[in-house]
Amino acid sequence: MRQRTPAYIFIPLTLLAVILAFTMVTPVDVVPEPGFQGMIHNLLEHLKHVFTQGIFWAVLAVAIVMLLIINALNKVIEAEKFKRLSEEEQAKYLEDGKIGYFKRLFGSASKKQSDKEEEAIILDHGFDGIKELDNALPQWWLSLFYFGVVFMVVYVMAYSFTDFAHSDKEYEEEMVYKDAQDSIWAVANDIDITGAINKSNDPAIVEQGQKLFNQHCTQCHMEGGKGGIGPNLTDDYWVNHVEDSLFKNIYHIVYDGSPKNPQMRAFGQRKELSGLAIEKIASYVYYINQKEPTKTVAEGAAAPQGDLMDAWKQK
Ligand code: HEC
Repeated sequence: MRQRTPAYIFIPLTLLAVILAFTMVTPVDVVPEPGFQGMIHNLLEHLKHVFTQGIFWAVLAVAIVMLLIINALNKVIEAEKFKRLSEEEQAKYLEDGKIGYFKRLFGSASKKQSDKEEEAIILDHGFDGIKELDNALPQWWLSLFYFGVVFMVVYVMAYSFTDFAHSDKEYEEEMVYKDAQDSIWAVANDIDITGAINKSNDPAIVEQGQKLFNQHCTQCHMEGGKGGIGPNLTDDYWVNHVEDSLFKNIYHIVYDGSPKNPQMRAFGQRKELSGLAIEKIASYVYYINQKEPTKTVAEGAAAPQGDLMDAWKQK
């Protein structure tokens, strides 16, 4: 005769399942937060919504009463069965009962039977002398399996027929949240043209600007800005001259794009780069234009385009 699963195990587990089921079918109007902390926060929000529902407490109360009744019935059945055992079996049953529940559960996973017991459960097919025992599955495994089946049914029902999931809506809400985060980030990291400062004297900034330039600009302006699809950025000729100072002119074109050629897109307006990043890139472009030798056609650079800008000539 098998030992009964103690009430302190199956009652909390069932109540947990009830809470879980309610968590799934209760609509929640919060925007999910990302990350581990967000996960905890989302779970607590869900639970809060569950716990404020009258129907939840009603179902929980009924469940508790039913579980107590089941427990009482189990006790009666156990006592009845016990009476019918032989004295030897009764002694063994009592002995087994002294082992803690978890130890027994764990033991059932690594149970080993005697040779005689093995003979009874050996299957009569075999291959290369290897035979198979028709072992019973361990209780913990079966419990997990049954739990999985019940969970699956509740989940599919909740997903299909209740307010549990609206992936489209959730996606949109998450995007709104992300956009809000982005604009907070942008305000903290952005500067507009009036705030942009030429930092071409700062080697660290120029280096960072070069990295950004290599990521975003070299496919058109080539290594070192010698020009290709986009004009040579190291010479004194400029197609666009919309600002008084060279640095501001570069910043302007990168932020707002070229009004003449859409290939030079508005990196700032399109939020591909923050104002702070453009400041670094513009510092780098200013640096290669003013402090490095002009790259010539003979060196494989692009021919000058636009107007010769005397005021911006390399000093
Ligand atoms: C898809 C190709 C492309 C990319 C990528 C690109 N550019 Fe341009 N860029 C151009 C073209 C084409 C022009 C010429 C625009 C015109 O004729 O008005 C230009 C013009 C410019 C100008 C003004 C040059 C002048 O003579 O007026 C600057 C400065 C500039 N780009 C910097 C950059 C920087 C910095 C990046 C990277 C953030 C970048 N570009 C990325 C194609 C590109």
